[in-house]
Amino acid sequence: MLGDFSYCTPTKLYFGEHALEHLPEELKKYGDNVILAYGGGSIKRNGIYDDVMKVLKDTGKTVTEISGIMPNPTVEKLKEGIQIAREAKADFILAVGGGSVIDYSKALSVSVHYDGDPWEKYYLKFEEPECETLPVGTVLTMVGTGSEMNSGAVITNPDQKLKIGHVFQDEKIMPRFSILNPRYTMTLPHYQMVSGSYDIFNHICEQYFSGEDDNTSDYIAEGLMRSVVHSSRIANQDPQNYEARSNLMWSATWALNTLTGKGKTTDWMVHMLGQAVGAVTNATHGMTLAAVSIPYYKHIMPYGLKKFVRFAKTVWNVDPEGKSDREIAEAGLSAMQQWMQELGLVMNITDLGADESMIPDLVKGTIVLNGGYKVLDEKEIAEIFKESL
Ligand code: NZQ
Ligand code: ZN
Repeated sequence: MLGDFSYCTPTKLYFGEHALEHLPEELKKYGDNVILAYGGGSIKRNGIYDDVMKVLKDTGKTVTEISGIMPNPTVEKLKEGIQIAREAKADFILAVGGGSVIDYSKALSVSVHYDGDPWEKYYLKFEEPECETLPVGTVLTMVGTGSEMNSGAVITNPDQKLKIGHVFQDEKIMPRFSILNPRYTMTLPHYQMVSGSYDIFNHICEQYFSGEDDNTSDYIAEGLMRSVVHSSRIANQDPQNYEARSNLMWSATWALNTLTGKGKTTDWMVHMLGQAVGAVTNATHGMTLAAVSIPYYKHIMPYGLKKFVRFAKTVWNVDPEGKSDREIAEAGLSAMQQWMQELGLVMNITDLGADESMIPDLVKGTIVLNGGYKVLDEKEIAEIFKESL
């Protein structure tokens, strides 16, 4: 049975090669003092910075830049941004980049007018903002996280070896608009492109592998998964293929704007394991997920066998003829593993810089959730990390 839910996606999307043409009409809705948030400089090399800057100037905005937002943005960088935004009397944040820049901008949005420690309030206590928040708009340049249409904001605290995501309840933390031009993703290095593709796929898995109900959300998830597998294969061979890149972009948005989790408990344990790896290695997000996924899914498969059988047949076209349920489910995971290898994903945490001595920290840094097929204990988490080495 579908559980009760509410659904609201206030983010206005502009999709396609001419999407940026809509930026002026959106900017007019907000105040003059704009924070332009971006990463380490890719937008300067591929021309997106110049295009966006031109629109900001033409619309008469006063622009203050927060640059150098790193992949897996840190709490220290957030604190730096809070000072800049306060001094600029910011009215609006325009995030130009991938999930890191957009997440950072949401974290900034809830922190500029908060006097206390945002890490403690939003990431250790998971509280909601009571203060004024700044509206955020985005120009997406990297596909994967879905941050362009959700209220999630992941921040890393390297000193505490913690990487924590807060999914804010208040829908005004979601971007007010997002500009999605698939061409903007064409300059992504192959490593980031495939990492993002796996991030999309895993977001869908995280919501799919829970419950046994006849749930429309699962049918939507299966369609999206098939599209991601198909388009990622094409993009892997031909990265400039516009159709494949636009399908990936559109799938990423729908994979994590909460649609496919509606009415379900949802799992999210691959992300919890991956975030623990990210906190100690600073590795690329999608790769941390890829490195722990197969050991994790093999571990929980017996507890959710029926769903793994359905996954094998529907997503991977496994022929069930003459096979036990267990064999069908295993064949599905093998097909998934083969696809991951074909893309060139990192399939173990050793290659991301982790080693056996880090396992206690990894276990400590893994937040245990209870919406999936098995609530993991510490011993199981340590085993999964060992199998991921
Ligand atoms: O910093 P720049 O120079 O821009 O380079 C970035 C960065 O090095 C580069 N890049 C982005 N667009 C590019 C480009 N390079 C060339 N051409 C372009 N068009 O790609 C690198 C990675 O960017 P990043 O934003 O870090 O990647 P991603 O989008 O994967 O974001 C990762 C962050 O999002 C969080 C992750 O944990 C991680 O911190 N997540 C956010 C979620 C959410 N908001 O719901 C959910 C996800 O599961 C995830 O946890
Ligand atoms: Zn993710």
